[in-house]
Amino acid sequence: MFKLSYKLGGKLIFKPLSMAVYYLPDDKNIKNNLTEYEKRFRIKLSELHKKNLLAKKNKQISLSNLKGKPESIILHKFKTDEKFTVDYFRNHLAGLIKDIKDNEIQSLHIVIPELNLVKKFFDDEEYYYRSFLEGLSLGNYTFEKYKKEKSKTRNLSVMMYAKNEIALKSAIKKNNAVIEGIVFTKDLQNEPPSSLRPFELADRIKETLTKAGLKVTVFDEKEIKKRNMGALLAVGQGSIAKPRFIVIEYKPKAKVNLKRKIALVGKGVTFDTGGYCIKPWQGMLEMKADMSGAALVAGTMLSVAKANFPMEVLGVIPAAENMINGEAMRPSDVVTTASGKTIEVGHTDAEGRMILADALDYASKQKPDEIIDFATLTGACVVALGLNVAGLFTKNDRLADDLYKAGMKTYDRVWRLPMWDEYHKDNESKIADVNNDGGRWGGAITAAKFLENFVDKKIPWAHLDIAGPAIANDLTNYNKTFMTGFGVRLMFEYLSNLETDASN
Ligand code: BES
Ligand code: MN
Ligand code: ZN
Repeated sequence: MFKLSYKLGGKLIFKPLSMAVYYLPDDKNIKNNLTEYEKRFRIKLSELHKKNLLAKKNKQISLSNLKGKPESIILHKFKTDEKFTVDYFRNHLAGLIKDIKDNEIQSLHIVIPELNLVKKFFDDEEYYYRSFLEGLSLGNYTFEKYKKEKSKTRNLSVMMYAKNEIALKSAIKKNNAVIEGIVFTKDLQNEPPSSLRPFELADRIKETLTKAGLKVTVFDEKEIKKRNMGALLAVGQGSIAKPRFIVIEYKPKAKVNLKRKIALVGKGVTFDTGGYCIKPWQGMLEMKADMSGAALVAGTMLSVAKANFPMEVLGVIPAAENMINGEAMRPSDVVTTASGKTIEVGHTDAEGRMILADALDYASKQKPDEIIDFATLTGACVVALGLNVAGLFTKNDRLADDLYKAGMKTYDRVWRLPMWDEYHKDNESKIADVNNDGGRWGGAITAAKFLENFVDKKIPWAHLDIAGPAIANDLTNYNKTFMTGFGVRLMFEYLSNLETDASN
């Protein structure tokens, strides 16, 4: 792993042990430009280099510079055809930094292609630059805490070259803020459940976020009882590590004309065995990441503080461990939530919506301008949408559009599913107000409709089911191996675009 520091390249000055990456637009002219490239990059292309550069499926060649400045060069072809996406450079650089992770390289030079070559895909120059930075930073992530032999961290200075240096400078600053949040989110997600029980999740969040200037308040079991959060208590009652309820407050330093308060709520199940409706072992394996919603909220708030956002953000995290012992909740138990509404426990593995019921009620009572919640809530959502997109549930078209746009831009993508009231029927209970098991069909939607019962109808609200994209997958170079930190990029972008009219 490298300790990356990004710098404006300015004039091309190459230090020793350096590598440069140049992107060549595949404009069908590569053949005619070979001599031009030789001159521009001070290289000598061998016959094999030329053949490889022209080969249709071969994307890049690696060669050395004649003058040794930089010592090594990568020429990468890209084509803005139907396969091109805004994730292209992010993904490429994530792969590249992984490939050179054991290299003795000391400086890396990235020459960003001019915006007009890709302007069909990127309408924001700064964010276009950020996609390169994110690729390097995300690809560089590892989690080696529990390895006896850790790879040593080496400094790598990354010199970035781009036409618009003002945009580049700002891109570097924002990337540093976003990545800090994502790394915090990922570290929490990857932590094994033996060392991340509810109180440990609370301690970690309190320690890191307090340092960043945020206010963190943790309710212990006694306080949770006092506040009648019966659903949160029920989910955690089968574990010796009792629930915690974590409240994070961010307030902008600068004076703001149009005041806004956004509440972010995140599911914090530190391990989900399924309870007495126990999961098969395969289904239990990834359940250490069942606190990904909580981690996303904490990471986003860290980034928000680092970037001095101009709105108030309230983070609300119910944390519990869904285990079994002699006191664990039983299927068919009835619990009373802080809202006064009762829940029949149709299924002990539908625990996420239970703890969120108490959290959404709490968030509603703080009277924010809007509420967005994040949860690894249902396997059904993954069945419906796959691994690389979150389910989006809201009746509010403005929220839906803005979240969708932020998703397409950052590639933390979301896709909307229906919220029609007919689905309420599936959550009916004979003896309580609602049943937490919505049955077999449309499981992601019935879970969202369940949550709706606990949100103040006057407050715009969106629910994101991140069960798919929170978990490591092989779809990109940067989500491999470790949990993904999904949602921090999305929320940083979404909040960046909220109108607040800040004045200093
Ligand atoms: N944490 C799981 C959902 C999940 C599944 C997250 C796969 C990530 C990957 C959740 O608590 C759960 O168990 N949901 C049940 C609900 C059902 C019992 C109504 C599910 O999806 O099967
Ligand atoms: Mn569950
Ligand atoms: Zn769960």
